[in-house]
Amino acid sequence: MTIQEIAALANVSPSTVSKIVNGKDKDISETTRQRVLSIIEEYNYVPYSRYRKDERRKQRLIGVILKDVYSRAGQMLRSMEQAMIPRGYNLIPRIVDGSPESIAEAVRQMQSLNISGLLICSDQDLGAYTADLNTVYITESNDFSSSQGSTFYLSLYDAGKLAAARLIGEGHTRLSCIVLKEHSSILYGAEEALRRHGEPCRMEAWHTGESMDDIIAEGGLEDCVNDSVTAVICGSPEIARAVCSYASAAGICIPHMLSVISIGDETSLKYISGGITAVELPFEEMAERAALYLLDTISQRKSAEATKSVPLSLVDRGSISPPAPAARETNILVVGSLNMDITLELSDIPVDGETQIAGGILTLPGGKGGNQAVGSGKLGGNVSMIGRLGKDPDGRLLHKSLTDNQVNVEGIEFDSVNDSGKAFVYIDRNGENTIVVYPGANLCLDGRQLVRHESLFQKSNYCLLSLEISAEAATSAIQMCRAHNVQVMLKPSAVDKLDSSLLSHIHYLIPNERELNRIIPGELPLEEKTGMLLEKGVRNVIVTLGKRGCYLRNSEHSIYFPSAPFTAVDTTGGADSFISALAVCLSQGQELIYSVVYATYAAGITVTRYGVQEALPDRKTIGIYRSDIEKMYEKIISQEKET
Ligand code: RIB
Repeated sequence: MTIQEIAALANVSPSTVSKIVNGKDKDISETTRQRVLSIIEEYNYVPYSRYRKDERRKQRLIGVILKDVYSRAGQMLRSMEQAMIPRGYNLIPRIVDGSPESIAEAVRQMQSLNISGLLICSDQDLGAYTADLNTVYITESNDFSSSQGSTFYLSLYDAGKLAAARLIGEGHTRLSCIVLKEHSSILYGAEEALRRHGEPCRMEAWHTGESMDDIIAEGGLEDCVNDSVTAVICGSPEIARAVCSYASAAGICIPHMLSVISIGDETSLKYISGGITAVELPFEEMAERAALYLLDTISQRKSAEATKSVPLSLVDRGSISPPAPAARETNILVVGSLNMDITLELSDIPVDGETQIAGGILTLPGGKGGNQAVGSGKLGGNVSMIGRLGKDPDGRLLHKSLTDNQVNVEGIEFDSVNDSGKAFVYIDRNGENTIVVYPGANLCLDGRQLVRHESLFQKSNYCLLSLEISAEAATSAIQMCRAHNVQVMLKPSAVDKLDSSLLSHIHYLIPNERELNRIIPGELPLEEKTGMLLEKGVRNVIVTLGKRGCYLRNSEHSIYFPSAPFTAVDTTGGADSFISALAVCLSQGQELIYSVVYATYAAGITVTRYGVQEALPDRKTIGIYRSDIEKMYEKIISQEKET
C-alpha cells in the first residue's frame, strides 16, 4: 500500500496523508484526520521513514564511541567485535577526543543511524541524548555520574593505589609519580595508599604534564627520578620507558637504586631494564564484557542497570626491590684544599716583568678539594669533606658553598691561627689559566685531623685527594684509605709531595700532561709513561688533555676519549669537575668507560662558564646531554671491540 493509494481511498491529496502521518496536521479538520487514520489502520500502512528504521534495526548495528584510552582503542574494538559478530551484530565505531562535546556530537550522529544499542566510553551521563536507546558505558574512572546507566569500569585511581601498595609492601617510603594530566587519578590513588599507610611513607615528588613531550620539557624526569626517592610510579608504559632511559643515563640502576612500576602494560616493558613491573589495565576484557552485557540487554535477557568493576592485576617482572640504602649510600670522601679564588680576566698572562691590566675580577669559592666536593654534591653524590678553613669571612663563605651543595661538613675544621687559603687565578683570552695558591689554613690540615674524622674513611668507597695540603696530610690520607679499603683518586697537582712508594695505593691517578711529565720526566710517548705508572702499581691512569679530551690507561684499556663539544671561556676547575663526575658515576655503579665519558661532559660544561663551583653542572644540567653521552659511549665501545 502506497501513500497515493491511501490518499485515493480517503479522497484527499497525498500531501494531506503525509502531514497526518508526520503529525504536521494542525490545519487539517478532525473529520479528515480520523478518516485517513482509520484507512491507514485498516490497511496496515507503514510509512517509508519508519520502514527504513525497522530495516536498520534488522541490520543489528551497535554504535561504539571510544576515546583512545591508553592507545588501546584498536584492541578494545577488536574485543567488542569478537563478542558481537558471532551473535549477528556489527559495529559502527567512532573514536572521539574524549571531550563532553565530542562525545555528545558522536551520540547524535549515532542516533540518526538507527542503531540497536550503544557502547560509550565516558564517565558523563548522556541519558539526555540516548533516550530510549540501550546504552552501556565503559570508563577508566570510578568517579562516574550516579545517574549513568549500566557501566563497566576499571579504575586508574585503584591502579595508583595498587602500585603504591606494592612499593610500600617492599619497604619504600619515598615515592614519586609521573602521569599525564588526564590520568591524575593515578596520583590521587597512590597518595591515598601512602596516606593510609601513614608516616614515614610519603609522595616525595610528582609531575603531571599534558603530554610526554611536556613532561620531558618541564623537567618531570629530573623532578621525580633523583636521590630523594627510592621508587617511581609511571602513569603509562611510555613514561616508564622514558624513566628507564633517564635513570640509565644518570647511572641509576633499576631496581637496586630505583624501583619502577608502570600503570598499564605492554610487550616492550618485558625488554627494558631487565623487565618492568606493571599494573595490567584490562581494557579489552572490559570492552568484551560491556559488549556482551549490551547484547543481553537488547535481547532483554537483562533489564536491570548494572555497575561492574573490572579487576586489576599486577605483572611482576623484577623492577621492584627493597630500597637499598647501602647501594645508594656509596660514599665519596674529599680530602683537599679550600681556597677563595680571586680570578683576573686578562688578554695575556704577564711574563718577564710585564704589567697587564685585568679586564675583570671575580672572587668566588674554589680550592681543588672544595671544587671536587661541590661537584660531587651537585651531581647527587653522597659526599663528605675533610679540610681546614680560617676563621674569617672567606672561611664562612667557603663553608656555606659546601653546605649549599649537600656536602657533609663534619670533617671541616676552623684554624684559629691561619687565614683561609686563597688562589690568584689568571685567565687569558683563550680561557687558559695560571694559578698561584696561598695555602693558609690548608697547610694546617694534618694527620691528627684525619684521625679525628676516621669514621668518614670507614664509610667511604672513594677518596678524592689533591695535593694543596701538607705532604704529611696527603700521606696519612692514603694510608687511612688503605686501612679502610677506600679507593684513592689522586690529582697530583704538586708532585714533590708525592712519595713514589705511595703510587701502588692509588686506584685512579688523574694528572694533566704537565703533571704527568713531572712524575715521569723525559720525551717518552704518553702510552709509555702511563704504562710505567701501571708498573709502579697505579691501577688506572687518566691523563686529562684539555681540548684534546683525555687518555685512559689500565691493564685492559688504552683509550683516547675526545673532548665534549663545548667552547671554553675559563678552564679553571675543569679537572676538578672531571674527577668529581667520575667519582659520582663510578659510585653509582657505572662502569669505567661510561664514567669517563660522563666526566668529560661534566668538565666540558664547567669550562663554558667563569668560576668553578658556580660553573659545575648539577644532575639536571648534565641530564640535557644524556643522549650525547650515550652516543659517545657507544662509539667508544664499538671502536674498542674492533681493536
Ligand atoms: O683546580 C682549580 C683550583 O685550583 C682553583 O679553584 C684554585 O683554588 C686552585 O686550588
